[in-house]
Amino acid sequence: MSTPTPGQVIVSYRGLASLLENIDLQSAAEAGFLRNEEAGDNPLVARAGDDPMGVAGAPPAQVQPVSEDLSDIDELQRMVMMSQLQKAIGEIAVADRTPGVFFVPDSQAASLLLAYMADKGLETGKLEPLKNNNFEVKFDDHDIGGWVGSFLRDWIKRLQKRPFLPPPTGVDVIGNSARIAIMGDWGSGLYGAPVCAQSIEKANPAYDVVVHLGDIYYAGNHKEVKSRFLAYWPKLPKALHRAVNANHEMYSGGEGYFDHVLPEFKQPSSVFALQNDYFLLVGLDTGYSEHDLHGGQVEWLAGLIAQAGNRKVVLFSHHQPFSVLESQGPKLIKKLRPFLSTGRIFAWYWGHEHRCMVYEKHREWQMWGRLIGHSGYPYFRKDFSGYPLAQANRDGSSFRVLAATDVAPRSAVLDGSNPYVTDAPLKYGPHGWASIELVDRQIVERIHAADGTVLHEKELL
Ligand SMILES: [Fe+2]
Ligand SMILES: [Fe+2]
Repeated sequence: MSTPTPGQVIVSYRGLASLLENIDLQSAAEAGFLRNEEAGDNPLVARAGDDPMGVAGAPPAQVQPVSEDLSDIDELQRMVMMSQLQKAIGEIAVADRTPGVFFVPDSQAASLLLAYMADKGLETGKLEPLKNNNFEVKFDDHDIGGWVGSFLRDWIKRLQKRPFLPPPTGVDVIGNSARIAIMGDWGSGLYGAPVCAQSIEKANPAYDVVVHLGDIYYAGNHKEVKSRFLAYWPKLPKALHRAVNANHEMYSGGEGYFDHVLPEFKQPSSVFALQNDYFLLVGLDTGYSEHDLHGGQVEWLAGLIAQAGNRKVVLFSHHQPFSVLESQGPKLIKKLRPFLSTGRIFAWYWGHEHRCMVYEKHREWQMWGRLIGHSGYPYFRKDFSGYPLAQANRDGSSFRVLAATDVAPRSAVLDGSNPYVTDAPLKYGPHGWASIELVDRQIVERIHAADGTVLHEKELL
């Protein structure tokens, strides 16, 4: 058995069930569970004589002391966190659909809890092998001692965000012929994610720019950005590498993203601007303030557009301006309306929603919208069988037509199975990525399967 790396550790509810079901968090919080002197009545503390192995006749367990005194933490904050923790456990229980398959609910508490548990599993060796050399964390109720307190400490550290870095003053100049690869929601280190990275790395001619549309799971902490993201990112030393900020990165306060991803990419801020004679490509940070534009981004974008002449403007962000299947982005639309309503934004690539969707041109904004959120997160497949077929792909996947709504144009959604999620390939949607090729005024867009196969190609006009 090979030594597990953090990128291969999966936390499932079944691995935690015994642990989590044995904790009455509310009464624990009310009882001030974190003080050692109350350990005798504390449901979170293993007592002397407990049998840690569940084996009759085994030596008595060592008393596991409650390791944290959190009396310095404001009681109200502690109660709020405990209630969020309880909610997170419920979210984890509901979201864990297929045994042994990676998942993470979209909340800070649940993401931090899963990140913490993955780390504890590695630290204590409480891991069981899964298929594909992955490992699952398996705790039992004798592992309870002290973890809640230690987790809250861990969480409190992450409530402090890394400072927002000011947008760069200039633009990065790229060639008039430029190839740009785009992945979104790629930071799992699992399934099709490494395959996407390898096919980008091997592409000929080589890509000049590689963009991540955000989300490094579970919470983008120091270890995760190294083991799930940087370890697999395409190694193209001549290319420019750019990553926008996202909600999962910010669940750890942005520590991994700001401390490691940006320096590694030589990217001075969580926003970026690339320009040639015909195009202006702008990456926005919608993660620092979730689904919003923090700092002076709108003014910065206005300045960029003002200097851009008649260059076409392409945006990249983690969160969506609109969606046919999930929530909308009213804050983004309100702040960017001056550019959208005047037709100044030519195209916009986003992630967050775990799917690939190609929208028809937005009639009012004259904008091409694309959702590329399917590069690495194993997303549960929706039944699109009743939707009209737009295109059958050579790899067995297809594009299905979704009707326009009052906020979103008609679109084609990529549907199919996921051969990289070997536990349940038919239940999970395909992984893949997108590319745009700029040749002077021309822009050609491609949607690729994880292995690089072109599924869709279109010149954007
Ligand atoms: Fe995501
Ligand atoms: Fe996200």
